[in-house]
This record gives sequence, structure tokens and C-alpha cells, in this order.
Amino acid sequence: MTRPLLQAEHVSKHFPVKNQFGRAAGVLRAVDDVTFTVDRGETLGLVGESGSGKTTLGRCLLQMEAVTSGRIVYAGTELTGLAPAARRATRRTMQVIFQDPYSSLNPQRTALQQVMEPLQVLAGDLDPAARAAATLARVGITGDSVHKLPRAFSGGERQRIGIARAIAVNPQFVVCDEPVSALDASIQAQILDLLAELQRDLGLTYLFISHDLSVVRHLATRTAVMHRGRLLELAPTAALFDDPRHPYTQALLAAIPVPDPRAARAARARGRPPAYAPPAEPGPATLAEVAPGHFVAAA
Ligand SMILES: Nc1ncnc2c1ncn2[C@@H]1O[C@H](COP(=O)(O)OP(=O)(O)OP(=O)(O)O)[C@@H](O)[C@H]1O
Ligand SMILES: [Mg+2]
Repeated sequence: MTRPLLQAEHVSKHFPVKNQFGRAAGVLRAVDDVTFTVDRGETLGLVGESGSGKTTLGRCLLQMEAVTSGRIVYAGTELTGLAPAARRATRRTMQVIFQDPYSSLNPQRTALQQVMEPLQVLAGDLDPAARAAATLARVGITGDSVHKLPRAFSGGERQRIGIARAIAVNPQFVVCDEPVSALDASIQAQILDLLAELQRDLGLTYLFISHDLSVVRHLATRTAVMHRGRLLELAPTAALFDDPRHPYTQALLAAIPVPDPRAARAARARGRPPAYAPPAEPGPATLAEVAPGHFVAAA
């Protein structure tokens, strides 16, 4: 039996909501009692409509956001409640690749400097230039171009620099938050290939957040579905797409015909919400195992 790399147990993140007069008016349950594991070496796909809490969950796992309640156990260590120094050390092994390489890179610093920074700050590397250059070469940014500023690169190249920043410090776990959503279709495929290759060569474990069901179907080992902060279904990817059990998952898959990515994009562009009416009060967050490894929340 493989030990999971990461366990999230009853993780919740609530944000205070203010009314129009700036007074406290309740809480927004961005992440609501979410329990799941991420296995070593797998790609766990995380899907769900905009605002369902995917990014917030990813940020909680990475300790970029303090959880309201719940536990996160990573490589056998409970992160929640860890002292800051120990948390920093762990953070080095958990990295993130963002959707928008434009805003995640510093416009004033060269590609080489961008990749040197985490090596200095997180890994205490005293001579990070050689390692940064080697990492950039690994993702296809070579030669003198490493001395150029972000604006001199294309969107795809910028995302390669963002990937180099994430992998330079030798992480185990990488949250990919919509890593190709801002890129043209032809470039998307190249970046996805690069991510798959790095996973193979470096033994990485991915949490892959995406709106694009066809991308998730293609590369995720297992897929999790979120809706309004809740985890509704989690299953091996083929089982989830071939035999979705939760009405919301069924609606999500029906609204976006997966085999035709162009139609899927058009449907998303129209912003058509899946036809699913959740219960007024959410039921228990416990998922039932309806088939081996296939977990579903009560509808
Ligand atoms: N710092 C914050 N303060 C208050 N509310 C927040 C904060 N961050 C996120 N939220 C809210 O939490 C909910 C979940 O947001 P989140 O960004 O996690 O969704 P998402 O699934 O990643 O959406 P998208 O697909 O659009 O990226 C949203 O209602 C959002 O407005
Ligand atoms: Mg998001």
C-alpha cells in the first residue's frame, strides 16, 4: 500500500463577509470540510466552476492561507500548527505554478534572476546562478535569453520560466493552478507535455486545478469535483468521466462535451452554469465509497 504524500482532513477556510455598511454579516465557506488524500507521484485533477474554492484549497494545502479548521498532513508531518521555521523548510518542497505568468513574474528581473530567487530564499543556495541556468535549460530557455526580462518572452516561454522557478528548489508536491488556461491551444499542449515529462523525471506529485475537463481527463490519475467549497466526488479519472455518480458531476460533464474541446470552450465562454440545484443546507461532508476508490457525497 502506498502512503499518501498529503492528507487533508476536514479542511475548512471561511472568509468573513461584510454587509454594505462594512459590518460583519456572516461567513463565506470558500472551503467547507474537505477530506482527501494525494498519493505520491499521482496527478490529482481538481475541477469545479469558478468560485467553487479550488484555488483557496490549493493555497491552504501550501500554507499560503491559514485554515479555519482541519488538519493537513504532508509527508507524515502535520503542517497546521507547525512553527514558522519548520513550515518554511517544508514549503520548499511544495511549490505552485500559477495561471498567469505575466503577474507571477517580476517585470524588473531577468529570467535567470527569477529562478535564482527561490534558490537563495528557500534553499539557501549560495551560488544559485549555475543551478538556475540549468533549470531554465531543462524547461527550454537556453543561452543568452536567460538574461532577458519577462516582457521579451512569449506567454508560453513565460510559463516555462514560472515552471523553472517552481522546480528549481527540488519540490515533491506542485500545485498547478490553471497552468495553461491563459495560453493558446498549440502552446497549451507543449506546456502540458513539459509538465508530464518533469513529473516523470523528477517524481513530482501534482494537484492540477483546471476548468478544462478535457485537459484533466487526459492527464489526471484521479479527479476531484468541488462545488461551493464542498468536495462532491473523487474517483479514478476514467471512472469519474465514464460513470459520474453525483448529479452535479453529471451536470458538469453534460454541460461541457468533453470529446470536443472547441465546443467545450464555447460552452465555457457562454458561461452556462450546469443544471444542478444544490440542497439549501449542505448535508454531511462525508463521502461514501460506491466503487473501489470512487467516493461520492450525498446529493
Ligand atoms: N481572500 C479572500 N477574501 C474573501 N473571499 C475570498 C478570498 N479568496 C477567495 N475568496 C472567495 O472564496 C470563493 C472561492 O474562491 P476561489 O478563488 O478559491 O475559487 P476558484 O474555484 O479557484 O475559482 P476560479 O475557477 O474562478 O479560479 C469565492 O467566492 C471567492 O470570492
Ligand atoms: Mg482559482
